[in-house]
Amino acid sequence: MSEAATPTTATPASIYDPSAEAAEKAVCFRGIWAWLVLILLVALAVAFVMWLLRQIIQGPAYRKLNRIDGKVVIVTGCNTGIGKETVLELARRGAKIYMACRDPARCEAARIEIIDRTQNQQLYNRSLDLGSLESVRNFVARFKTEETRLDLLINNAGVMACPRSLTADGFEQQFGVNHLGHFLLTNLLLDRLKHSAPSRIVVVSSAAHLFGRINREDLMSERKYSKFFGAYSQSKLANILFTRKLAELLQGSNVTVNCCHPGVVRTELNRHFAGPNWAKSALKFVSLFVFKTPRAGAQTSLRLALDPGLECSTGNYYADCLRFPLVPWARNKDNADWLWRESEKLVGLPPIEAPPPPPSAAQNGAPSAAAESIESVVVERSSS
Ligand SMILES: NC(=O)c1ccc[n+]([C@@H]2O[C@H](COP(=O)([O-])OP(=O)(O)OC[C@H]3O[C@@H](n4cnc5c(N)ncnc54)[C@H](OP(=O)(O)O)[C@@H]3O)[C@@H](O)[C@H]2O)c1
Ligand SMILES: *[C@@H]1O[C@H](CO)[C@@H](O)[C@H](O)[C@H]1NC(C)=O
Ligand SMILES: *[C@@H]1O[C@H](CO)[C@@H](O)[C@H](O)[C@H]1NC(C)=O
Repeated sequence: MSEAATPTTATPASIYDPSAEAAEKAVCFRGIWAWLVLILLVALAVAFVMWLLRQIIQGPAYRKLNRIDGKVVIVTGCNTGIGKETVLELARRGAKIYMACRDPARCEAARIEIIDRTQNQQLYNRSLDLGSLESVRNFVARFKTEETRLDLLINNAGVMACPRSLTADGFEQQFGVNHLGHFLLTNLLLDRLKHSAPSRIVVVSSAAHLFGRINREDLMSERKYSKFFGAYSQSKLANILFTRKLAELLQGSNVTVNCCHPGVVRTELNRHFAGPNWAKSALKFVSLFVFKTPRAGAQTSLRLALDPGLECSTGNYYADCLRFPLVPWARNKDNADWLWRESEKLVGLPPIEAPPPPPSAAQNGAPSAAAESIESVVVERSSS
């Protein structure tokens, strides 16, 4: 086979070349290949484990292909991150989407990009600053002149761990934007949602609610401000209590409301991260591997928005596209009731329910009277 070979290119098995030097070279040659193969195998194994880890981190995707052609949708905070990916997928499925964003230029850039990618022309840029009750009212007023229906509302916008600051109305920023702005927005849109039933509300909360508690004595963190474990976590717990109370109020209306944790997602949410520059770069790099992509982060919102199988689910909490049980403080009815009443006062809405009876009269309370008052207030709100 290798008779023609010169000694320097001898194959390892050559029996025609007895020189020790060549034999040594041949062994050496074999050694290098052995090492290379070993390294290659190890690299493949590492790559496979990383791929597996990544699949696990990205979580399950919403895979049903159902379309929602012509359904009217509002998504808040969708010029970037999870909201943008959510709009992209809903646009692919034919929805008519009002993109409610704070920054008109960034909203328009995202809108054009999504139209470009989906060929869905029914996307509209609308100005909404959740840190201003006036802006929320203006947004709703304009929307109501444009649409008589609303099939899907996704409360996605959020701000995390910013330095303490106040909204236009003097609320602590995170509680004001994440909870109160959406509270007013949703309440003002309830008539449209009911009119379009079956319709849905999706609230993007966070697992950070686990650290949260509703601080009744210091809702606006005036005495003590802890940007993540305090104010942010409280606002995300408020999202869940809001979801639960609203689901109760909407019973029998065919309007469902559910909330979710999107996962730990590589977005601009950490823009207020206050570490040194090297730590920021390190976080950015590490997040490439261990955070979800925005697309993966949108999947749970998408399932809640789209899945025909969830028609009857309401008041529930989801993560990784699955329903999860809530910790006791996130399903505490007393807290949810209190927060609802307090939020109504703060945003200036009339009470949707009769005030709670004094403790002594609690036993003979008339639930039917409360139900009637819900109806009347809803009518009142709708007509405004
Ligand atoms: N990323 C995560 O790991 C993670 C984890 C748990 C929960 N979440 C939740 O997921 C939701 C989306 O966050 P994201 O990760 O996609 O963050 P993001 O990339 O920072 O996007 C947040 C969006 O909210 C908008 N927004 C902020 N303040 C607003 C205001 N006052 N009025 C109107 N819009 C406002 C932002 O607009 P601008 O660009 O103009 O600021 C942006 O469009 C948030 O509710 C967040 O709490 C995220
Ligand atoms: C919003 O979209 C309209 C077209 O629908 C466009 O004419 C307008 O310039 C956009 N607004 C901004 C602030 O870009
Ligand atoms: C809710 O949906 C069911 C089934 O589609 C329907 O029978 C019922 O009338 C609806 N109720 C309301 C209040 O729209």
